[in-house]
Amino acid sequence: MKSYRIAAIPGDGIGPEVIAAGVESLQAIAKRDGGFQFVFDCFDWGGEYYKKHGRMMPESGRDQIRHHDAILFGSAGHPEIPDHITLWGLRLAICQPFDQYANVRPTRILPGITSPLRNVNNNELDWVIVRENSEGEYAGVGGRVHQGLPLEAATDVAIFTRAGVERVMRFAFNLARSRPRKLLTVVTKSNAQRHAMVMWDEIAAQVADEFSDVTWDKMLVDAMTVRMVMRPQTLDSIVATNLHADILSDLAAALAGSMGIAPTGNINPERTFPSMFEPIHGSAFDIMGKGIANPVGTFWSSVMLLEHLGEQAAADRLMKAIERVTADPRFHTPDLGGKARTNDVTAGLIEAIQGTNA
Ligand code: IPM
Ligand code: MG
Repeated sequence: MKSYRIAAIPGDGIGPEVIAAGVESLQAIAKRDGGFQFVFDCFDWGGEYYKKHGRMMPESGRDQIRHHDAILFGSAGHPEIPDHITLWGLRLAICQPFDQYANVRPTRILPGITSPLRNVNNNELDWVIVRENSEGEYAGVGGRVHQGLPLEAATDVAIFTRAGVERVMRFAFNLARSRPRKLLTVVTKSNAQRHAMVMWDEIAAQVADEFSDVTWDKMLVDAMTVRMVMRPQTLDSIVATNLHADILSDLAAALAGSMGIAPTGNINPERTFPSMFEPIHGSAFDIMGKGIANPVGTFWSSVMLLEHLGEQAAADRLMKAIERVTADPRFHTPDLGGKARTNDVTAGLIEAIQGTNA
């Protein structure tokens, strides 16, 4: 039987709770499918590891997961450690060297979930955001001088390379092409940022020439927030820079009903390195250990993991099971206004997996 090795990195906060649920769901879907199995290796990296060892993961960390078929990631963040240390020490320390340059964030209002937008039916908000995930504002280039003195200065330099922009544009156009509406919106800020964003626009237009079957348009990022709220039906696939898409994808998740639902894939399309799947919500320390974290974001990320592995039938089955669960208010966790606990939702999902005939 086909066997996939998955590196599970629960990380911090509610990460361990949702990743345990995600592992259970993947085991259940593999059993139901019968054509493949999962072997999970669990890594205890994150904030607690940092407190013991002074780093978020061991020096050999990437080598340890380099040959896994995929990575299932919880979250990084710790109340006692600055956020830029936890982020750069673990999540970005995996995403960037593993060249997971396409961060894919599907957003839909799932059955049973209410959008805060008045007058929007569930099928009228169905987007996929492609976030450039290897450079731009997250390039990590910059520095500080005169620290602590009155003339202290600091820079964070956004780096955009032609190759980096071209590959993410091509990925986004391909993704748009694979969806029924074949519609892509390129988010920019080339009115104010007159160098890199102008190049970004030029490359978008050049790549667009290869995709005459895809309709595309361009939106300034500020105007994009308005369009997402006022005319969500007019959007389908979206591509944006690392920071722009970071912000827009939180807005998207909220408009679709809850941060607890939204999934992510950090994709290395060439498969030279493993790709990494994670719920979009963070460590959520305020609800850590209470057993009420919404595992749906991890379940949906697991769907993306299955798709990436080429297990489309299992991915479809898991997605249907998720939709059955969200449709039933008994399985709504407090972020959705319900009383369900993580374990209730997981049990409901596994029942739905077993009962789904798709
Ligand atoms: C995300 C998150 C991260 C980011 C945080 C945890 C730094 O918000 O995945 O969107 O900004 O990339
Ligand atoms: Mg974010």
